[in-house]
Amino acid sequence: MAVDLQGRAAAITGASSGIGEAVALSLSRAGAAVALAARREERIAALAGRIAEEGGRALALPTDVADEDQARAFIAHAYEHLGRLDILVNNAGVMLLGPVEGADTDHWRRMVDVNVYGLLYCTHAALPVMREQGGGHVVNVSSVAGRHAHLGSAVYNLTKFGVNGFSEALRQEALHSNIRVTVIEPGFVDTELAGHNELELVRQGVERMREQIGEVLTAEDIAEAITYAVTRPERVSVNEVLVRPTRQQR
Ligand SMILES: NC(=O)c1ccc[n+]([C@@H]2O[C@H](COP(=O)([O-])OP(=O)(O)OC[C@H]3O[C@@H](n4cnc5c(N)ncnc54)[C@H](OP(=O)(O)O)[C@@H]3O)[C@@H](O)[C@H]2O)c1
Repeated sequence: MAVDLQGRAAAITGASSGIGEAVALSLSRAGAAVALAARREERIAALAGRIAEEGGRALALPTDVADEDQARAFIAHAYEHLGRLDILVNNAGVMLLGPVEGADTDHWRRMVDVNVYGLLYCTHAALPVMREQGGGHVVNVSSVAGRHAHLGSAVYNLTKFGVNGFSEALRQEALHSNIRVTVIEPGFVDTELAGHNELELVRQGVERMREQIGEVLTAEDIAEAITYAVTRPERVSVNEVLVRPTRQQR
């Protein structure tokens, strides 16, 4: 049976679109107060307004998670304003695909800074707060790309394989503080993520994959998986959830 999140507080990174936005709505509807982080201030402010209209409580905190001070301030402000920190959803991410040879190395830095360091900074700031509070839950949004490597995805694979390894090691450490760790691995979800790719080769590859799959996942499908994981009774730790569209092969 699902645990009611009434009186709980959740911090969600990458809440301005896609999966993060859907998770914020879903956790709010399950009863949690939510703190929203992303760089696009107007998007998170609008989402906070929508949540308030629905009768929920949301706080928009413009944040670049790749900046350690900003990531730390996000967690501190979320805790300060909401009075608790029960759930951290490390969802902010960037996926810039293409061959290794000739790649724009700035794309590599952006992926490592957001997908890896952003997640590390927020987790590092949240752990002592959760421990002192008596427990918590860290949800790391990885990818099917954290399990299976593919040509053209090398550095994105590197970041998501890293998230998977980190999550399992963190799980073993944090269980002593009553902190649960879940890694979520979505397959193809219809969001803005792939749209940031400028290489024609990559754009065509993404479109081919979408056509092969047919009906891809929605952000709400992943939000439901995350909401499931964080509403289990305390004795239940859902450690890993891989969700693909039914017709996605790899
Ligand atoms: N879509 C898929 O098929 C898929 C599959 C597997 C895994 N995932 C993972 O799911 C997560 C969410 O992606 P999505 O599909 O929902 O894509 P999306 O719609 O592009 O959302 C990405 C989110 O990350 C935020 N973000 C990017 N850089 C940031 C930074 N420096 N600081 C703070 N926030 C930042 C963006 O907000 P701002 O731009 O406003 O900062 C946005 O809210 C990512 O970790 C992604 O790797 C997605």
